[in-house]
Amino acid sequence: MSAIRYDIDENKILTLTIDMPGQSANTMNSDFRAALSDTVSRVQQDLANISGIILTSGKRTFFAGGDLNELFRVTPDQAGEFEDMVNSLKRQMRILETSGKPVVAAINGSALGGGLELCLACHHRVVLDDDTIQLGLPEVTLGLLPGGGGTQRLPRMIGLEAAFPYLMEGKKANPQAALKAGIVDAIASDTDDLLRQARAFIEANPKATQPWDKKGFKIPGGGPQHPAMAQKLAIAPAILRQKTRGCYPAPEAILSAAVEGVQVDYDNGEKIETRYFAELVTGQVAKNMTGTFWFQLNAIKAGESRPKGIKPAKFSKVGILGAGMMGAGIAYSTASRGVSVVLKDVSTENAEKGKDYSRKLLDKKVSRGRMTTEAQEEALSRITATASAADLAGCDLIIEAVFEDSALKARVTEEAEPQLMEGGIFASNTSTIPITQLAKASARPEQFIGLHFFSPVDKMQLVEIIVGDKTSDETLARAFDYVQQIGKIPIVVNDSRGFFTSRVFGTFVNEGVAMVREGIHPASIENAGLLAGMPVGPLAVCDEVSLTLIQHVRNQSRKDIEATGQNWQAHPAESVIDALVNEHDRKGKAAGGGFYDYPASGKKHLWPELAALFTQPGATQTADLQTLKDRLLFIQAIETVRCLEEGVLRTVEDANIGSIFGIGFAPWTGGAIQYINQYGVRQFAERAQTLADQFGERFTPPGLLLKHAESGTPF
Ligand code: NAI
Repeated sequence: MSAIRYDIDENKILTLTIDMPGQSANTMNSDFRAALSDTVSRVQQDLANISGIILTSGKRTFFAGGDLNELFRVTPDQAGEFEDMVNSLKRQMRILETSGKPVVAAINGSALGGGLELCLACHHRVVLDDDTIQLGLPEVTLGLLPGGGGTQRLPRMIGLEAAFPYLMEGKKANPQAALKAGIVDAIASDTDDLLRQARAFIEANPKATQPWDKKGFKIPGGGPQHPAMAQKLAIAPAILRQKTRGCYPAPEAILSAAVEGVQVDYDNGEKIETRYFAELVTGQVAKNMTGTFWFQLNAIKAGESRPKGIKPAKFSKVGILGAGMMGAGIAYSTASRGVSVVLKDVSTENAEKGKDYSRKLLDKKVSRGRMTTEAQEEALSRITATASAADLAGCDLIIEAVFEDSALKARVTEEAEPQLMEGGIFASNTSTIPITQLAKASARPEQFIGLHFFSPVDKMQLVEIIVGDKTSDETLARAFDYVQQIGKIPIVVNDSRGFFTSRVFGTFVNEGVAMVREGIHPASIENAGLLAGMPVGPLAVCDEVSLTLIQHVRNQSRKDIEATGQNWQAHPAESVIDALVNEHDRKGKAAGGGFYDYPASGKKHLWPELAALFTQPGATQTADLQTLKDRLLFIQAIETVRCLEEGVLRTVEDANIGSIFGIGFAPWTGGAIQYINQYGVRQFAERAQTLADQFGERFTPPGLLLKHAESGTPF
């Protein structure tokens, strides 16, 4: 069976229905290319008997886009072959586009990437009026570019400036937004209307030519030579650099392909696009991003870390203890996914305050037209704010998010646990206390687990599931199901101090602070963090977290470690934090200032006295930027290897996804472990050793890393 059905009706209208056998969605793979090429040859032969063409889909979605399995495998030495393949695919689309016959895209589901590019190659686009339909070119989010003509047709259709957010940020549009933006021409109420409108266009336009194939075509909003546009384009690369910090080649290549491409005729523009496409596809950053954000994330979503053979669980009533910042956020994320929530605090007033948080977030949705007031009321009615533990009766999950205090946590566990329904599970959102220790307060420690959310809960997608010594597989599977039910991404870690994310994040912050002590200028440290691809510099992070909390967590860890008879290894960052807090009363942002000053009006800036505090008189410390960047990423990657080695982490997927979604580890790398793979395991181990010689044992390559380096096998 061909991937494209070919039906001519009595009015000579040819309907091409893309319906790839054996696939749930249509993708641009070799089967599709072969089918398109056959179809186009057949159209050329039948041309005299065709009045127009309708392109539609036999699947629930219109077209999912490029075949990432295929793109992921293209190596630099196959670049030439790859370019030929891409150009030949585009030639087929071009033959239809320039056949003289009207071609209409009847878009009956989401059209993304290559799918939307097919539609852009048509003369007219009608889309079903369905808010769940998405139209967009998300290639950039995987380090790629829309290589099926997207960087050429969209700017010619809606103008360069209007096209940029779709091309360079992967912005998606629903049908109404796409109509407004000029990406589609019409909206249809149902499938019949869709086909009726497509036929009507064909009847009204027996000959159709794309605007860019007409003489005297002018790009909407002006081409690059237009004075207003030239001015904007002169600074566009600098603005983009400020965003990408030079870590992401894809948006830069897209900008170049679009601007260079619209200065030549369409066919040459497409060739320019293909060149940039090949460069990105074969480049390392696209491999990193596609590998992690597509393959590894999908593996996690498919339940790779979920124990096998356990029946999927569905939650209908979740109790949350503590309606503070975290509890309120967890309540919102749970209730907005249709699950009933009992939000308990010490007083009804406190609990109501926590519920108000959901009200505020939902208000925003309503005011933006993304939710009806009825839906808002319904979501809010799912949250019961209470001070009574009895209201928790029948919960299938209770999550504790009270103050970070072991004794209090034990008390609320004992009080609430008996209210769980038969087989229900109890979770703690602790950020630092070992789950095994907290489980001691539970009568059923095998049904006790850690669910570590990140702040702000409504925005942060990751949840770190922490398995205690006694936690059963069944409890883990159920916790995994809950996280997925509320639309978040679960990673699974074993119990250890700081679990995985906080532990690795701590190394980043400490490394930045240690540099201050070496006399490196604070601005250089912050810049190195940003240029390495971290979202925020390490010193700014300290201020947000608060220096006193950093001190508190460290003192607690030290006490716990010394209690086991081990020696505490002091980190060079400690004396800097202590000096700031104890000698200079700089405790962080909430306390008015830390590494930064926070003027009442104006932007924050580094505390001017900081640099002089740690420089030796007369000495000038010049720092090599690459070394600073390496230190900030290496220290996190090395700690992540230790987590794998110690069994805190179970899979490389969880390591990569957890590092990016939990702590913002530079996304261009594909995550803390992929950073090592792409660096080269051997080279990474060598560089780590050099850093250890220069800056301290904390960089010493762990045994597991050396094992990989010796055999030359990536993680
Ligand atoms: P918070 O101070 O905002 O809220 C704690 C809430 O617990 C308060 O509303 C308090 O009234 C309530 N509470 C105290 N005793 C209670 C009791 N007996 N019964 C019911 N409620 C009681 O604290 P936050 O920031 O929400 O943190 C809660 C937990 O989440 C802590 O264990 C914290 O370590 C952890 N966590 C915090 C993160 C953060 O970024 N703030 C991130 C991840 C975890």
